Amino acid sequence: MEFDDIETIAVLGAGNMGHGIAEVAALAGYEVNLRDIKEEFVQNGYDQIEWSLEKLAEKEQITQEEADAAIDRVTPYVDVEDAVGDVDVVIEAVPEKMDIKKDVYGDVEQYLPEEAIVATNTSSLSITELSEVTERPEQFCGMHFFNPPVRMQLVEVISGAHSSEETLQATEDLAEAFGKTPVRVHKDSPGFIVNRILVPLMNEACWMVSEDAATIEEIDSATKFDLGLPMGAFELGDQVGNDVTYHVLEYMNEVLGEAYEPAPFLEQIVEEERFGKKTGEGFYDYENGDGADIP
Ligand code: 3HC
Repeated sequence: MEFDDIETIAVLGAGNMGHGIAEVAALAGYEVNLRDIKEEFVQNGYDQIEWSLEKLAEKEQITQEEADAAIDRVTPYVDVEDAVGDVDVVIEAVPEKMDIKKDVYGDVEQYLPEEAIVATNTSSLSITELSEVTERPEQFCGMHFFNPPVRMQLVEVISGAHSSEETLQATEDLAEAFGKTPVRVHKDSPGFIVNRILVPLMNEACWMVSEDAATIEEIDSATKFDLGLPMGAFELGDQVGNDVTYHVLEYMNEVLGEAYEPAPFLEQIVEEERFGKKTGEGFYDYENGDGADIP
């Protein structure tokens, strides 16, 4: 598949990243099939896109006409065949679990046009291993967006052992067409570039709370102002999703070793299903307070 032939994109998974990626693709003029396993999930993703487009229009970052045209390009689906049967690219953004992703590829492959590219938005998992469950490992690569996709400029384009140059080039060109800046990651190692650095930062912050070395507020003030990060370590965790951070760490711990062991405090937060902004509560309470309010 060459970049110039790409017209229609299926985004699998309508969660935080999936609906954000679908929005970015629709704003760039592509027809987007947004698919999830339940009607309510896909509807929620669609509603989030509408919310975000309205917000961008209110702030005059796009016009109302651009917002209306973008939402008209998004079609929600539950049926897999309808969602992928006639697309040029699939961007998979289902939960960060190897087994779930492999099952999804198994479902999709039978309906997907032969020449279509499959790009995964995995945060950490092996591109090579994922590609090997498909019948098109050379048409498979990583296309890793950052949260929130509509605001974040970087896209990591990750080569698996079998990814063809044509696939990587088309995916980079697509990221550019989305208005993003692609960075090629030539080595398929856990967490790629950004998460290999950023996820341990969030984990270390949790270790400090586990050890009672500092409070959430102290750590966020220090990381935000002294390190100059746009968000404190815990604000960022709540933005990304604490379940996502945890799954990435579990995988890095398994493959790279004990330096990546998830902190007990993070485990506790995840057990309590305090996943962050998307569930209304994480390290901060977004329902009963105003979310993070870091001095
Ligand atoms: N669409 C539209 N508007 C949105 C939005 C979205 N998706 N998300 C947030 N907003 C709105 C907010 O509602 C808020 O609106 P308000 O002003 O009316 O209250 C406004 O945007 C906030 O934006 P501002 O520009 O005023 O605020 P900031 O200057 O702080 O920018 C930010 C927000 C771009 C998110 C910035 O804080 C930032 O860059 N944070 C770091 C994010 C980051 O590092 N992400 C990567 C994490 S790693 C990852 O995702 C990888 C994964 O694999 C784990």
